[in-house]
Amino acid sequence: MAEKKKIVWITGASSGIGKALATEFVKNGIYVVGTARRIDLLEKVKHDLSSYPGIFEPYKLDVTDNTSVDNFFRKISQDSFVECLINNAGVTSFKQASENSFEEIREIIEVNLLGSIYATQKVLPQMIENKSGAIINILSAVTQKVFTESSAYSASKNGLHAYAKVLREELRDKNVRVINISPGATVTEIWSNKVISKHSDKMMKTEDIAKVVYQVYSGNSNLVVEEIVLRPVTGDL
Ligand SMILES: NC(=O)c1ccc[n+]([C@@H]2O[C@H](COP(=O)([O-])OP(=O)(O)OC[C@H]3O[C@@H](n4cnc5c(N)ncnc54)[C@H](OP(=O)(O)O)[C@@H]3O)[C@@H](O)[C@H]2O)c1
Repeated sequence: MAEKKKIVWITGASSGIGKALATEFVKNGIYVVGTARRIDLLEKVKHDLSSYPGIFEPYKLDVTDNTSVDNFFRKISQDSFVECLINNAGVTSFKQASENSFEEIREIIEVNLLGSIYATQKVLPQMIENKSGAIINILSAVTQKVFTESSAYSASKNGLHAYAKVLREELRDKNVRVINISPGATVTEIWSNKVISKHSDKMMKTEDIAKVVYQVYSGNSNLVVEEIVLRPVTGDL
């Protein structure tokens, strides 16, 4: 039987950090399957990356829809082994806890926490069986510090942080690396235009985050970079 191709699955690859990650990985010759809801943007990423050595394969997927995630994973598993999952899809709302609707809170938890856990559960059995793989979680500086107007977001990212730390211990003898990246303010559409126009000079760039993640992913030894905090040199906004 033909050997399965090794791929990197990046969630939320249609914009921002996810798109930059896809670009960096494909530039480095990696086969990336990028998922998100906005398939038109994913198709554009594919087009833009077509001259690079790797491959970008777009797939429309809402990480909160478990049935779709099951179908997606079954399909890609036929001929591929996900050697790295990057849980990047994420949303927030920048509101005080008292002003958040329950629907907003539910969406934040479902995308950032449950969506990431569900994707992780999909890739784990193959990684454990193969005794190789990496799970990279794009967390946030909220894992390091309290930020107001981020209560549900902080709950989701700190929840995923806690989950990932336990998972890492459980996988110690399985050669599966669990890597948590906690970035501070980065220029993407998660922020309002007002914030970006005021602070873009000091905010980090998606390409710079992506370079760090690729470096950590591509290290080929028996060490794992477990936690990384990335901040603008001038500090938080
Ligand atoms: N920008 C920052 O300052 C910053 C700092 C720390 C951490 N982060 C984290 O970085 C990650 C990427 O965010 P970003 O800043 O790059 O913002 P972004 O440009 O808004 O990207 C968010 C991505 O998540 C995807 N997404 C949202 N809901 C989804 C769903 N239900 N199913 C599948 N995909 C979904 C979006 O794709 P579709 O809309 O096409 O589905 C998009 O590709 C997030 O986890 C965020 O929390 C960002």
